[in-house]
Amino acid sequence: MKGVVLVGGEGTRLRPLTLHLPKPVVPIVNRPFLERMVRWMSGYGVREIILALGYLPDKIRERLGDGGALGVNLAYSVEEAPLGTAGAVKHAAGYLTDTCFVFNGDILTDLDLAAMLAAHRRAQAVVSIALTPVDDPTQYGVVEFDAEGRVQRFVEKPRPDEVRSHYINAGTYLIEPAVLERVPAGQYWMFERQLFPELVAAGERVFAFPTDAYWIDIGTPEKYRQVHADLLAGRLGDHLGNPHGDGLWAGDGCQIDPSATLIGPVALGDRVRIGPGAVVSGPTVIGADSVIGANAHVAESILWERVQVGEGAIVSECIIANDCRVECQAYRAILGARVVVEPGNRLDRGIRVWPERVIPRDTLRFG
Ligand code: GDD
Ligand code: MG
Repeated sequence: MKGVVLVGGEGTRLRPLTLHLPKPVVPIVNRPFLERMVRWMSGYGVREIILALGYLPDKIRERLGDGGALGVNLAYSVEEAPLGTAGAVKHAAGYLTDTCFVFNGDILTDLDLAAMLAAHRRAQAVVSIALTPVDDPTQYGVVEFDAEGRVQRFVEKPRPDEVRSHYINAGTYLIEPAVLERVPAGQYWMFERQLFPELVAAGERVFAFPTDAYWIDIGTPEKYRQVHADLLAGRLGDHLGNPHGDGLWAGDGCQIDPSATLIGPVALGDRVRIGPGAVVSGPTVIGADSVIGANAHVAESILWERVQVGEGAIVSECIIANDCRVECQAYRAILGARVVVEPGNRLDRGIRVWPERVIPRDTLRFG
């Protein structure tokens, strides 16, 4: 079966992490996000996967190639300028001949795709939309549906007074390709603001598929940290590395000094080194080839690859991109790639440091 994954967004809310790396390949517990998504889809037989994208396509191709390593066929449909969610699928229409899935490319979920397909067929729907309940629907597409599950109304980013359902569009659709005839070729067109409301208004069979499956949109730093905590708590049963008991997973070739303390859940990538007296407490992920210096403390943080935490440094509630060197106290900081923070600094309050910045000795202090 075929699936189109929409990965055209720039991931602005995750900057500076997404300045050099598009959101779909941002690591989630040491693996590119899309790799986890592809494993989920292929588990349900969705193995012909079309990535619809524009932003940094080569970075995605570099990491995922033709999908062979994941047991799927990946095709790339590249937009010169963003075409919107529906425009992007229209652009890929040449690949689509039959009922197919469409996925927002920033959602991690364990939704049962087989059950969704069965419901779509039973309802003889032209579009089915997976839904999830949330407390505040105003940041999402809110969906009202009747007792049979037929969609009555779809309002993207409603005003608070427009909210009449707590079920929102969960970003997984089944569509019959015929609906794409309503989407003008080469124009910016949205499922959420144009095609879905239009289909509903035309009386077409648009159905809701509400579930309480695990569901998270990884688009903000808070959600990005949440998804790590959830995975490390076993919420998705995903592969986290070789299990070592007590909430510890490690890749190959790790060196942990016997005097270091690890309090799980902690997942280490390949060849991570942890020095004498260091303390690592979870939920924490440390990417491949990273080095935690002697007596350093790392807590509740996500470190990407080749990160160096200096001797005696403190890293707490941080997200640190590839190749950073941190020799200071960092609380709630987000560092882009290749940032260097020298000793005598204290980062705090969600500070975001742009890639390649060097913060010299004794420059920054908070409160
Ligand atoms: N190829 C392509 N081209 N992809 C796009 C484009 C485009 O022009 N615009 C957006 N996308 C992709 C994004 O990369 C993302 O994976 C997905 O489409 C949704 O776009 P977001 O920018 O993340 O939208 P959102 O999070 O504000 O809202 C969407 O997701 C919510 C669930 O998280 C909507 O679909 C809402 O209705 C939904 O509730
Ligand atoms: Mg989103």
